[in-house]
Amino acid sequence: MDSNKKISIAIDGPAGAGKSTIAKLISKKLKIVYLDTGAMYRSVALKAIRQNIDTQDAKKVSDLVKDINIEVKHINEEQRIYLDGEDVTDFIRTPEVSIGASNVAVIPEVRIKMVELQRDIASKCSVVMDGRDIGTYVLPNATLKIFLTASIEERAKRRYNEQLLKGITNVSYEEVKNDILYRDKNDSSRAFAPLAKAEDAIELDTTNMNIDEVVSKILGLIEDIC
Ligand code: DC
Repeated sequence: MDSNKKISIAIDGPAGAGKSTIAKLISKKLKIVYLDTGAMYRSVALKAIRQNIDTQDAKKVSDLVKDINIEVKHINEEQRIYLDGEDVTDFIRTPEVSIGASNVAVIPEVRIKMVELQRDIASKCSVVMDGRDIGTYVLPNATLKIFLTASIEERAKRRYNEQLLKGITNVSYEEVKNDILYRDKNDSSRAFAPLAKAEDAIELDTTNMNIDEVVSKILGLIEDIC
C-alpha cells in the first residue's frame, strides 16, 4: 500500500456485527485514524437523558443539538469522546444510551450535525470509520466499503459476553437480543440515511469467522485496491 495516499475505509452494519473491533485492528495495522461514529450519537443521547429529555422527542432533541459541542480526540491510539468539554467515553455504553442513540439518530437535524463532523475528520487524514451510513451517505467515495453482518443470535451473544466481561450481570441475554432487534429495526427503517449496504460495498457475514479472519480478509481487499 502507498502510505502517502489518503484512504478512507467505511465499515457499516448492524449492532454486534464486530464493526468496532475490526475497525480498531485495521486502524492499528494501517496506522490510520479510527472513527467510531456511533459514539457521537451516543453522546447526543447521553445529553438528552441527563436533561430528562425523551430521546424520541424530535423537537427537543433538535434544540439540544443546536449548541452541542462534540469533539473526538485520539489519546494513546484510543478514541475519546468529549461532550461539551467533558470526557464521556466511559458513560455511553449503557443499554439506556444504546437505545437512546438509535432514537436520536432518526432525527435529521442530529444526523446533519454529526455527519458534518465526520466528513471534516475524513477530509484531514486517512480514516477507517464505522457506523450505519458511512458507505451510503457520509463517505460515498470511500476507498473501500465493507458491510459486516452476523446472525442475530451471534450478535446478541457477542454483546452479552462483552457485558459480562465488563462486570455487567444484571442484563440478560434475552434483553440484549431484544435491544439489538429494536435498534436493527429503528436504524434500518428511518427515512434519512438508514442502515443499508451501499451498492458497491462488499458484504462479509462474520457469523462463522473469527476476528483474525475478518481482519485478514479486509486487509487483503485494501492491498488489492491501494
Ligand atoms: O455503533 P453503535 O452501536 O455505537 O451506534 C449506536 C446507535 O447510533 C445505532 O443504534 C444507530 C446510531 N448510528 C447511526 O445512526 N449512524 C452511524 N453512523 C452510527 C451510529
